[in-house]
Amino acid sequence: MDHFAYRDGVLHVEDVPLPAIAEAVGTPVYVYSAGTLRRHARVFKDGLAGVPRKHIAYAIKANPNLAVLRVLANEGYGADVVSVGEMKRALAAGIPAKDIVFSGVGKTRAELSAALDAGIGQFNLELEEEGVVLAALAAERGLRAPATLRVNPDVDARTHAKISTGRKENKFGVPIDQAPAMFDRLAPLEGLDLRGIATHIGSQLLDLSPLEAAYTRIGALVAELRGAGHRITHVDLGGGLGVPYKAADVPPSPADYGAMVARVTADWDVELMFEPGRVIAGNAGVLMTEVVWVKPGVLHPYVIVDAAMNDLARVALYDAWHDFQAVTPRGDHFTANIAGPVCETGDTFAMGREVDRVESGDLAVFRTAGAYGATMASTYNSRPLVPEVLVDGDRFAVVADRVAAEALIAAERVPDWLAG
Ligand code: LLP
Repeated sequence: MDHFAYRDGVLHVEDVPLPAIAEAVGTPVYVYSAGTLRRHARVFKDGLAGVPRKHIAYAIKANPNLAVLRVLANEGYGADVVSVGEMKRALAAGIPAKDIVFSGVGKTRAELSAALDAGIGQFNLELEEEGVVLAALAAERGLRAPATLRVNPDVDARTHAKISTGRKENKFGVPIDQAPAMFDRLAPLEGLDLRGIATHIGSQLLDLSPLEAAYTRIGALVAELRGAGHRITHVDLGGGLGVPYKAADVPPSPADYGAMVARVTADWDVELMFEPGRVIAGNAGVLMTEVVWVKPGVLHPYVIVDAAMNDLARVALYDAWHDFQAVTPRGDHFTANIAGPVCETGDTFAMGREVDRVESGDLAVFRTAGAYGATMASTYNSRPLVPEVLVDGDRFAVVADRVAAEALIAAERVPDWLAG
């Protein structure tokens, strides 16, 4: 459930009509609903009611806006970060260092050092050498770094290939059969408190069975490691729960997910950790755009909007579907192509789709754009970086500015020898 609904024929976010935001901020613009974020955070946490000891670390990569983080911090969420930049955001949003988990396949030595100095709560190691280096950096500081080893359970998550991470040929984690030997070598290192296992098999999962298969393998590994004398107190189950992008998508509910987790992990006796991203933020945001032209096409008209692939990259990258809806529907539909102004054929959001009929100057939204939207934006074609607005009840605030061409140009230099 979310707080995006038509009232008096106009799409509202909570109590704010979207045209009011377009008038104040312009388009394109991402608009998030604080109420929806809070609701999703609570529903996810409630779904895990059957898990006695847990830590929920929101995967910041999904939507790292400071205001969004603050809403989730206020709900008691920690953070899963994959760079020092994300760690700095989490800290800036008021998330305590101890509630931060550092994931990521390419953490640099400088990043490991910075995270140790910040006192973050856990490192999820992606390879044995990373554990050796982290242990040395921690020992130099007189610390023991809390860590898990991320294993790759070799499970096909049955999602888009580019967001599937748990098959043996993927770059993530260590092969599950090699984990016990690595544990034997890493656990004795002085600077390391190797306390558990982490996994994450992919994103936008619409079926629980690959997750259950992965978790079952992790359970067997936990038992095996304990049998070998290791102390296992934490297991990080990652993120991955899908969200509905279109009416036909029926993702498992957080309650279904939580029930499966409680059942599979009933005798693990560990603190379970979770890294949800999309399920918290996805349906809490829209990308609002204005129709620039409706251009006659050969098969269907092209609705050329002022948002483009640089603002919302998911369609070009993963052939993703985002519902397109008029902010003030005219009451009829047409079959159209929806495209942005960028000079690439791939800058197309939909082909031959039946949508609300729109005319030039109309406002429209791409739905389910709260996760992996603004954060993946670029300035390709020297387009301004898209701004972000947070709605909370009847209030709204610009929570990220539109970064205009002047600011981008100001960050560039022409060297003296070329300046003439
Ligand atoms: N934990 C780890 C280690 C991850 O790699 C990810 C996502 C998450 C948690 C959060 O997963 P979620 O709950 O959001 O599924 N840009 C792509 C998605 C990339 C996901 C990367 N990892 C997209 O727009 O679909």
